[in-house]
Amino acid sequence: MKVIIDTDPGQDDAAAIMLALGSPEIDVLGITAVAGNVPLALTERNARMVCEMCGRTDIKVYAGADKPLSRPLVTAEHVHGKTGLDGPELFEPSFPLQPGHAVDFIVQTLMNEAPGTVSLCPIGPLTNIALALQKEPAITGRIQQIVLMGGGYFAQGNITPAAEFNIFVDPEAAAVVFACGAPVIMMPLDVTHKVMTTKSRVEKIRAVDNRAARALTEMLLFYERFDEAKYGTDGGPLHDPTTIAWLLKPDLFAGRECNVEIETTSKLTRGATVVDWWGVTKRGKNALVLGDVNADGFFDLLTERLANLG
Ligand code: RIB
Ligand code: CA
Repeated sequence: MKVIIDTDPGQDDAAAIMLALGSPEIDVLGITAVAGNVPLALTERNARMVCEMCGRTDIKVYAGADKPLSRPLVTAEHVHGKTGLDGPELFEPSFPLQPGHAVDFIVQTLMNEAPGTVSLCPIGPLTNIALALQKEPAITGRIQQIVLMGGGYFAQGNITPAAEFNIFVDPEAAAVVFACGAPVIMMPLDVTHKVMTTKSRVEKIRAVDNRAARALTEMLLFYERFDEAKYGTDGGPLHDPTTIAWLLKPDLFAGRECNVEIETTSKLTRGATVVDWWGVTKRGKNALVLGDVNADGFFDLLTERLANLG
C-alpha cells in the first residue's frame, strides 16, 4: 500500500508514523507536515525526528501549510507540550527537509503514480489536503482513499463541546475534503476514545525495548497526563495510529457509510462534524464513518509492529 501521511506531530502522530514504518505492507511515499498541534517549524522537525527514531532517515519529509486556509492557527501545546513531542529526549534531526512545498509533493505524487494506488492519511488539520485538491482538482479521481483522523458525533468534541481539534482548526479545509468525492474514511473521537493508553498497554510497548518503542513510551507517559486529568481515565485516547491500523486490519473496526457535513459559520459549533448516522436526510453518503474498534487487537498490532523498528 502506497501512503502519504499528512501530520502535525504530536505524540499520537508519532505512534501513527511508527506503526506505518514498522509495517512492511505500507510504502510511505512521503510525510507532509502541517501546522496544528504546534507551529509548522516544529511539526516538520518532529516528523523528521520520529523517522530518525525509527532508523528511517531515507523518508522524504516536506513542510506544508503554516496556517489554516482562512483562519488564525490554533495550537495545542497544553496537550503536547511546547515542542509538540514532549516526553523523550529530543534531538536535531540528522537529515534535511525535502525542498519544495508539501502540497506540490502531494499533487505530483498523485499525478505520477498509477490512478487509485495512493492513499492519503491526514492526521492533523486538513489544510494541505484541501490546498492540493484546490490546486489540481484532477487528483480527486486518482486518490485511492483519504483515511483521516478527525471529527466526532456521539462523542462530540474535544477542543470545544462541539468540535474535534483537527476539524476545528481548519473547518473550511475539512469541508473541501468531505465534499471532494474521493473515498473518505473518517476515524472520529467515537473510535479513538476507545483506544486508551492504559498502564498495561504502555508497559507492553515499553517491553519492546528498541529506540522507537522507548521514545514512544516516554511520549505516551507525557501525552496521556492531560486526558487522564480531563476524563479521569487510565491513560488517554491514542487517536492517530487508528488510521494506519485501519489500512492494515480494517476488520478491527466497524462503521457505516454516512453523510458528513462540516459546520463552518457558527461561532458556537465551528468545526462540528454533522454525521447523518441514522439516515434522516437525503444527503449523499460521502464517508465511511467508523464507530467501534477492537481496542486490544489495535494495541496488539501497534506493539507487534513497533518490534520491527529494531
Ligand atoms: O483531536 C485529536 C487530534 O488532534 C489528533 O490528531 C492529535 O494529534 C491532534 O492533532
Ligand atoms: Ca495529529
